Amino acid sequence: METASLRIAPSMLSADFSRTAEEVQSINDSKADWVHLDVMDGIFVPNITFGPKFIQDLRPHSDLVFDVHLMIDKPERYISLFAESGSDYITVHGEASLHLHRTLQMIKASGCKAGVSLIPSTPVSMIEPILDMVDLILVMTVNPGFGGQSLIISTLQKIERLAELREQHGYDYLISVDGGVNLDTVGEIAKRKADIAVCGSAFFGAPDRVAFIQAIKERAQV
Ligand code: DX5
Ligand code: ZN
Repeated sequence: METASLRIAPSMLSADFSRTAEEVQSINDSKADWVHLDVMDGIFVPNITFGPKFIQDLRPHSDLVFDVHLMIDKPERYISLFAESGSDYITVHGEASLHLHRTLQMIKASGCKAGVSLIPSTPVSMIEPILDMVDLILVMTVNPGFGGQSLIISTLQKIERLAELREQHGYDYLISVDGGVNLDTVGEIAKRKADIAVCGSAFFGAPDRVAFIQAIKERAQV
C-alpha cells in the first residue's frame, strides 16, 4: 500500500457548530478526502456532541465519504438510525459493544461499511477474532472525548501490528488514525502504513485550509 496516498479526514468536532454547512463546504473545497463525524453520548466518553439528525442535515452539503465514529455505549441500539442518516462508514468501539461480532453484522446488513475502534489502553488482540469482517480499524491515538490533545506515542505500534496482520492474513481493512494528527505527527503515521488520518483541530485551526491539506499530504509522503 502506498503511503503517498494517505487520505485526510477532517473532523467536524472542531468546526464552528453555528456554521456547520459552511464548515463542511470548507472540507469539500480543501481537497480533503473524507468527512469524520464524532458522535459522543456523555457516557462512553465525557463529552456530548450530536446525533443522526445532524448527519442527515449535513449529507446534502458534501459528496465526500461520511466516516461516522460512534463514541457511544451499546451502539447496536442506534445502527439503523445512523445508516439512514447517510453514513458511509459506521465505526463502533470494541469496548462499547459486548456482542461486537453481531454489531458489525448489523452495520453491514444496513448497507454501510463496518469499522471498529480501540481506545489507547485496549490491545489489538481484543479485536483479532473479528479482523476478517471489518472494513476499517480506527486506532485512537488520544483518549477519546475531546479535540486538541497530544498524540500518545505508545499507540503507534498498534498501526504497525494491524498492518502486519493485514499482510499476513490477506485482510482488506483500512487503517485510520484518530487524535493529535498535525503537520508534525503525520509522518510517523504515514510511515507505519496507515491509510487515513483524522484531523480536527489542526485542520479547523489552520489559517488556510486548502494550503493545510496540501502541506499535510506532502508531509505524509515518507
Ligand atoms: C476525539 C475524536 C477525534 C477528534 C480529533 O475523541 O474522536 O476525531 O476530532 O481531534 P484532534 O485532531 O484535534 O486531535
Ligand atoms: Zn473521531
